[in-house]
Amino acid sequence: MDKKTKTIALCGKGGVGKTSVSALMVKNLAQRKNLKILAIDADPAVGLCTSLGIPIKKTVDDIRNDLIHSIQKGESQDKTATLKMLDYELFDALTEFNNVALLAIGRPESEGCFCKVNSLLKEIIQDLAKNFDVVLIDGEAGVEQINRRVMKTVDHLIMISDTSAKGINVARTIKHLAEDNKAVNYKSMGMILNRVRDEREAQNIINNVPINVLGWLMEDDLIREFDYHGRSFIDFPDDTSACKTVNQIIQDLQIV
Ligand SMILES: Nc1ncnc2c1ncn2[C@@H]1O[C@H](COP(=O)(O)OP(=O)(O)OP(=O)(O)O)[C@@H](O)[C@H]1O
Ligand SMILES: [Mg+2]
Repeated sequence: MDKKTKTIALCGKGGVGKTSVSALMVKNLAQRKNLKILAIDADPAVGLCTSLGIPIKKTVDDIRNDLIHSIQKGESQDKTATLKMLDYELFDALTEFNNVALLAIGRPESEGCFCKVNSLLKEIIQDLAKNFDVVLIDGEAGVEQINRRVMKTVDHLIMISDTSAKGINVARTIKHLAEDNKAVNYKSMGMILNRVRDEREAQNIINNVPINVLGWLMEDDLIREFDYHGRSFIDFPDDTSACKTVNQIIQDLQIV
């Protein structure tokens, strides 16, 4: 991967706020007009697309299925021609909004194992990523799918958790999987606590959980409201504690 592209992947238990935090991060990054950002929605439910108010035309899974069907019909081409076609298709699947491009991965693999197709697509996504300054991946609950379907290596692996023991346990599991190098390669790892109601809860977790806490976001009615109304997080007000926290985290990580 090009050295100048920074990759961030967010993962964590279902419903803890991965998509909300991803969308706030994209909003923050998008304000830096000199940056080109690729946001990858790796959730089959395409939550990030909704949270950013950016519609999608086609997912990587659609491209994958088209290729599988053409292989099954015996229309296989050599690798160079296939790569060229996939390159075009992937570019076509991008939805651009100012300096942000959005790519949706779609459903998990269906129709049996076509490992070759998956690895071709991963190759192309990795190539595509080189054209951007920052790539942000909003993952599913499991971290394995990032490695399997999106990218082998990320710079910053960020676990999102609420303050519940269940959320923290999932973060611990992801940490172990990543450390054993079974899930995804990463350069730095940290956790963002979300929906914190009482600062003491956050401090208690910081003191007792062996994962670097990058920051925490409070329980926030405006986040809930934006989701309730399906409003784009690009319009989330800057002078809120959520935006300020996200800004601080991005600065601390030296993403930009
Ligand atoms: N800090 C917060 N304060 C209040 N509500 C929040 C906060 N963060 C997230 N939520 C709410 O929690 C719900 C789940 O958030 P979100 O969709 O971001 O989680 P997720 O981890 O992406 O979920 P999934 O695993 O389903 O993809 C949403 O309704 C959202 O509005
Ligand atoms: Mg989500």
